[in-house]
Amino acid sequence: MQPPTDGPAPHAPVPPVRYLVFSASLRRGSLNTQLAGLAARVIGSNGGHVDVAAMADFDSPSFDFDVLEESGPPPGARELDRRLLASDAFVIASPEYNASIPGALKNAIDWVSRFNPQPFNERHGLLLSASPSMAGGNRGLWSLRIPFEHLGARIYPDMFSLAQAHRAFGDDGRIADAQLQQRFETNIANFMSLVEASKNYPCIKTAWIEHLGEHPEPVIDRVQAG
Ligand SMILES: Cc1cc2nc3c(=O)[nH]c(=O)nc-3n(C[C@H](O)[C@H](O)[C@H](O)COP(=O)(O)O)c2cc1C
Repeated sequence: MQPPTDGPAPHAPVPPVRYLVFSASLRRGSLNTQLAGLAARVIGSNGGHVDVAAMADFDSPSFDFDVLEESGPPPGARELDRRLLASDAFVIASPEYNASIPGALKNAIDWVSRFNPQPFNERHGLLLSASPSMAGGNRGLWSLRIPFEHLGARIYPDMFSLAQAHRAFGDDGRIADAQLQQRFETNIANFMSLVEASKNYPCIKTAWIEHLGEHPEPVIDRVQAG
């Protein structure tokens, strides 16, 4: 059958939205890895393309500027950079260590922050945490926002922290409390709507400058024109 000759043009196919999902825990049996797995399932069932990674893929020796200058970034940092660049957005489920960011994750962020283009810039991020505690590791996520915001990532306002996570999961890997599972799914669906809208309607921000209000000084400036 011939397509109609008048009326609105058919919609162009919408490109898939790609999500990098990983847990920042290196531990076997990690609660955050369970939560990251659940996030990946929810994203997939909402039509997102998911790349599930493990923190072990990105784990790197402690950041050292001399090593960077002499031999370049380590394989783990290069892998995180590559997979971020292949994605539109990232989702991290991170443990809280001593009310803050796990060292392995902060170290990976520090390495990757030296790449050009700097891959966190303008990328959307959703932060999740799981902890046996009553606060679910939420304080760690507030710390984690800081380097990401600094690097130009667009961190979603709602961060999901699963309290008493050691008893929160059912045998099917979902959150056993139906209301909480529903909140988790809604949080992810809302994040996905924002990422999709942003991918199709790009924002006007065109440059990343490490310290916008600082007097320009070529020796220390880190500026990326859009
Ligand atoms: C070094 C260390 C520090 C921790 N600090 C906190 C903390 O500040 N807040 C918290 O809720 N849990 C804390 N915990 C407990 C972790 O939340 C718990 O071990 C959790 O299961 C770690 O995440 P994972 O299961 O994904 O590995 C800490 C654990 C370790 C090993």
